Amino acid sequence: MIKTFHDAEQLNSFAAEKFVEIADASIRSGGIFTVALSGGSTPKSLFQLLSSDEYKNKVDWSKVFFFFGDERNVALDGKDSNFRMADENLFAPLQIPDANIFRWNTEAEDAQLIAEDYETAILVFFSLSDEELFPRFDLIFLGMGADGHTASLFPQTQALKETKRNAVANRIEKLDTTRLTLTFPAINNAANLIFLVKGADKAETLREVLQGEFQPEKYPAQAVKLNDGKLLWLIEKKAAEFLT
Ligand code: 6PG
Repeated sequence: MIKTFHDAEQLNSFAAEKFVEIADASIRSGGIFTVALSGGSTPKSLFQLLSSDEYKNKVDWSKVFFFFGDERNVALDGKDSNFRMADENLFAPLQIPDANIFRWNTEAEDAQLIAEDYETAILVFFSLSDEELFPRFDLIFLGMGADGHTASLFPQTQALKETKRNAVANRIEKLDTTRLTLTFPAINNAANLIFLVKGADKAETLREVLQGEFQPEKYPAQAVKLNDGKLLWLIEKKAAEFLT
């Protein structure tokens, strides 16, 4: 489903309500709520809203377990760290205990090791049986880059082809860096997934992703198709300009 919003504030309010709704339902049915956060700049204002007086008492945070859809291979306090942004705007204000936060251990520096470590943490946390290969996050937030990437699944990169692992290191030649990311099998097994898309710079790509030819190598966001979950696109009007 696609919903567009006049501005970022209205989008964030709707997203925060959905967060509370899904958290409540997950905690009621399974006792906990597992959520993978997206990175970049878009979610920052949503995190600030969730940790504000308006929302901080609407969720039993002790039962919420946080993961990250992707991470840059930088120090925890690096300016580009997705963990740092979430910590400053969500975890610290809400005093989320470390035991409830599963971040990529980028202090290890070796991207392959970090990815293997994260995958193990996921497998253990979700206590997956041999038959179940992939975690089922109650909610995953994703963003979309102007090039159609999502998480750190960039166009024409190796991780797009991953069919077995939950978490990998992914070489991004055009950025001359290696990123850390959940894979499509892990993402597509989510019970709920919400894309948050803001900014006029994404309008052209968003039309291709949502209404153009299916070319997931070129537009990786197109490969997000949940096995049996609920997919929701929350789009700021400026980014929805070219959608018919
Ligand atoms: C990241 C993200 C990435 C992000 C998009 C959009 O680590 O950068 O997870 O997938 O969601 O690049 O980024 P903005 O929100 O900054 O536009």
